Amino acid sequence: MIAISGVTKTFQRRGGGTHLAIDAIDLDIAEGEFVSILGPSGCGKSTLLYIVGGFVAPSGGSVSVSGRAVTGPGPDRGPVFQEFALFPWKTVLGNVAYGLREAGLSRRDADAKATALIATVGLKGYETFYPKELSGGMKQRVAIARTLAYGPAILLMDEPFGALDAHTRLRLQNELLQLWERDRKTVLFVTHAVEEAVFLSDRVVVMTRQPGRIKAVVDIDLPRPRRRDELLLNPRYQRLVIDLERMIEDPPEEMRA
Ligand SMILES: Nc1ncnc2c1ncn2[C@@H]1O[C@H](COP(=O)(O)OP(=O)(O)OP(=O)(O)O)[C@@H](O)[C@H]1O
Ligand SMILES: [Mg+2]
Repeated sequence: MIAISGVTKTFQRRGGGTHLAIDAIDLDIAEGEFVSILGPSGCGKSTLLYIVGGFVAPSGGSVSVSGRAVTGPGPDRGPVFQEFALFPWKTVLGNVAYGLREAGLSRRDADAKATALIATVGLKGYETFYPKELSGGMKQRVAIARTLAYGPAILLMDEPFGALDAHTRLRLQNELLQLWERDRKTVLFVTHAVEEAVFLSDRVVVMTRQPGRIKAVVDIDLPRPRRRDELLLNPRYQRLVIDLERMIEDPPEEMRA
């Protein structure tokens, strides 16, 4: 469904020179697949996601979605980025209904659909709250509901739970998995967290530090539906986590003897 082919991104450095952020990324993602991108800070994970989202143009290579070249953002790809920008002057309902109104739904239909989505992400009762009255985890749920509202086939999630406390993070991971098991959207999920990647994904793509290249693609052959408490005791899960942690800890290529 998503075909990333030879994608490279070079940034101009301020004061001259260029910086190769990601280099020759090839990756195909099937419809309904949950793929995580794992790698150290600065390796180009967000850049790759922005390119797939059509927010940033690659310097080389191409991305296509369902056979069509990506030239900009589109309603088939729903971004959920970490710096979630909810409209502070709109309520939870207003934020989620916004895209639906833009898409031409009547106020009544938009509000009905938004209300159902707010319940889906566990925020029933908070429809009239403003973002400043919500916790970080609640805001993140609103951001997810807002993206789900216009029904993208693909979710692009850039460390959506990175800023949350451990407990909220685990809850939202569970909720995301339940949503995914129900709707089978294609998910491209960026994270630094090995356990999060293993828990959620069908495949984990490990990137090298600099420039960002694909170092390994690991199949997460753990049965679904997954439960964290069961996985923690599963030797296969433990093995995957340890192997992935080692891959990330490896020194960058240029430092190897
Ligand atoms: N707009 C930009 N202009 C110049 N350089 C950029 C720009 N965006 C990203 N970079 C550089 O590209 C590299 C990759 O950045 P990116 O944000 O994709 O990394 P990341 O893997 O998402 O990191 P993190 O895990 O910290 O979010 C970094 O070296 C960064 O400095
Ligand atoms: Mg990033």
